[in-house]
Amino acid sequence: MLIYIGKLRFFDYFCLVMTKNTYRAKVSYSYFGEMNMPDSKIIVALDYSTEDSAFALADQLDPTRCRLKIGKELFTRSGPVVVDTLVKQGFDIFLDLKYHDIPNTVAKACAAAADLGVWMMNVHAIGGGAMMSAAREAIGHHTDRPHLIAVTLLTSMDQATFDQIGLQGSMTDTVLRLAKLADESGLDGVVCSAQEAKALRSQHSDAFQLITPGIRPANSDRGDQHRTMTPVEAITAGSSYLVIGRPITQAKDPMLALKDIEDSLI
Ligand code: C5P
Repeated sequence: MLIYIGKLRFFDYFCLVMTKNTYRAKVSYSYFGEMNMPDSKIIVALDYSTEDSAFALADQLDPTRCRLKIGKELFTRSGPVVVDTLVKQGFDIFLDLKYHDIPNTVAKACAAAADLGVWMMNVHAIGGGAMMSAAREAIGHHTDRPHLIAVTLLTSMDQATFDQIGLQGSMTDTVLRLAKLADESGLDGVVCSAQEAKALRSQHSDAFQLITPGIRPANSDRGDQHRTMTPVEAITAGSSYLVIGRPITQAKDPMLALKDIEDSLI
């Protein structure tokens, strides 16, 4: 398709990249060289118990402006069809199932998630280096492979639980040690609290992704989150992607809430 704008000639085309079940549209401009869809930093948490509620929210969002996170409740109730449907609508999906099992089982689960066409998935770093390496091998080495992320310590873990299960040293040191192990095992990054992002960023290269929940735009309700950061504070601290649920999903106009967050990041 040839498009003339003023005196410039643009040769626009959509490059349809076919993964197993999906098509992803990439916009390319030959005049400037290839440019993919904007790399949105915002991952909207689809914390719903039914696929209908998840689809209703997704209908109000633009897949070029955010990604979606599907967790254990929605996936357990609705199964792979919810992932498949949203991938086909053009959304990048973070499948947040936090696998933790023997290496062979985790590797097979990760391969199955990759076959669903998810953009990102995660495993527990506490499963160890062999488990993470097996997961990494299982998702392959092609350029369009999913991002594989580790959970270090759950941010819900307090000192009493840390002691109860017999972990030694400080919680911060444990987070840093597990993130280092994830990096050495070939993983792409970690889920962490934005409070930990600065220390993690100084230990890892910029390519190592920090995925941070607990984000609240200024003046928004914190709900049950305690140590929150605003989107701009989290990005400044070194976050790569912001996981945001209720400030967008419970908003009267989710797309407007998303736009306000985008504007705060400019
Ligand atoms: O609604 P809200 O923005 O609090 O949602 C945050 C999302 O991030 C939820 O899906 C929650 O389960 C997830 N999450 C979190 N804290 C973690 C890990 C995940 O809030 N440490």
